[in-house]
Amino acid sequence: MDYLFDNKIWLAPLAGYTDIVYRKICKSMGADVVMSEMISADALIYNNPKTKILTEFDEEERPIGLQIFGNDARKISEGIKILKEYHPDFIDINMGCPIRKIVKNNSGAALLKDINKIKQIISKAYSITGNEIPLTVKIRTGWDSDDNLLEIVKIIESEGASGIIFHPRTRNEMFLGKSNWDLISKVKENTKIPIIGNGDICTPEDAKEMFNQTKCDSIMVGRGAIGNPWIFKQIKNYLQNNSYYNILSPNRIEMIILHLEKIKKRVGSRKAIHLIRKFIASYTKGMRGASNLRQKCNQTKDEKQFIEYLLNFQPEVYPCPPLRFGRRAPQADKNNLENE
Ligand SMILES: Cc1cc2nc3c(=O)[nH]c(=O)nc-3n(C[C@H](O)[C@H](O)[C@H](O)COP(=O)(O)O)c2cc1C
Repeated sequence: MDYLFDNKIWLAPLAGYTDIVYRKICKSMGADVVMSEMISADALIYNNPKTKILTEFDEEERPIGLQIFGNDARKISEGIKILKEYHPDFIDINMGCPIRKIVKNNSGAALLKDINKIKQIISKAYSITGNEIPLTVKIRTGWDSDDNLLEIVKIIESEGASGIIFHPRTRNEMFLGKSNWDLISKVKENTKIPIIGNGDICTPEDAKEMFNQTKCDSIMVGRGAIGNPWIFKQIKNYLQNNSYYNILSPNRIEMIILHLEKIKKRVGSRKAIHLIRKFIASYTKGMRGASNLRQKCNQTKDEKQFIEYLLNFQPEVYPCPPLRFGRRAPQADKNNLENE
């Protein structure tokens, strides 16, 4: 399964951001593996039409995984049966989502509190996927400590998962502080299945550092790719040649217009403006004069005017500074989590 796990650069699932349009943009910029955002097992079983949209992907996105979340082994395996019909390249189970709406329902990172349940979920899921389709599990360190981390990882491995995506923060840490990459090394040393390291990669230098420090098999980029799809090419250039091209501010403005065009083709002009807005802050981060541009773009619903604002914005030609994450993670679009 080298096509998934051997030195690959994955785009993280980001609810509200990594839809089919943005995944394809990232793919064209060098992302090796992409994933759907989390899809509710219950909603799949009830055939919720909004959920169906989340399962859509294009052939050109391959290899692509569909990610499921839920709180019960039977329902998750029923959901996986449904997902299998879409023929993704792998299926991932979410055991890391920290947000209240999900954990209060005992899904996502709440599962990390219950080792027996993890065992049941993976074992039942594997009875559906078998050797036909790889099964991965995306985890955090634990609920509030790393006490059970190695036990959890060993169970996931022994019950048949093909790989583990690991974001080394506990649920209670949410997105605070720095993720603890030493724990990625520890998990890697203690498992035979591939480990995809995730957490706080915002530059090509970070990516190289994660590979070198942790010896993980592949890496996954999340927030660092929002409004910054070039990061995948930059990482590849840096890993190969120790250098990469800087992306200049006008390139970013051009990309917003291209991105808008692509969304519009799928959902029409009005909805496209709504959907692109949440990316604009990231695309224009660090550009002088950008807050005025953002304000204007946020106020108009008219596509022509929206594009005019962008075209009239003449940013100075300079490379934007590398992204650094603040204390708050970008917010997922609530509607996308309403599907349970
Ligand atoms: C807005 C947002 C939405 C997310 N949605 C998902 C999701 O649907 N499934 C999932 O497993 N993780 C989700 N995550 C977590 C990311 O996949 C990733 O694990 C996390 O952001 C850490 O990686 P990063 O530091 O590279 O961003 C989300 C994170 C953010 C900020």
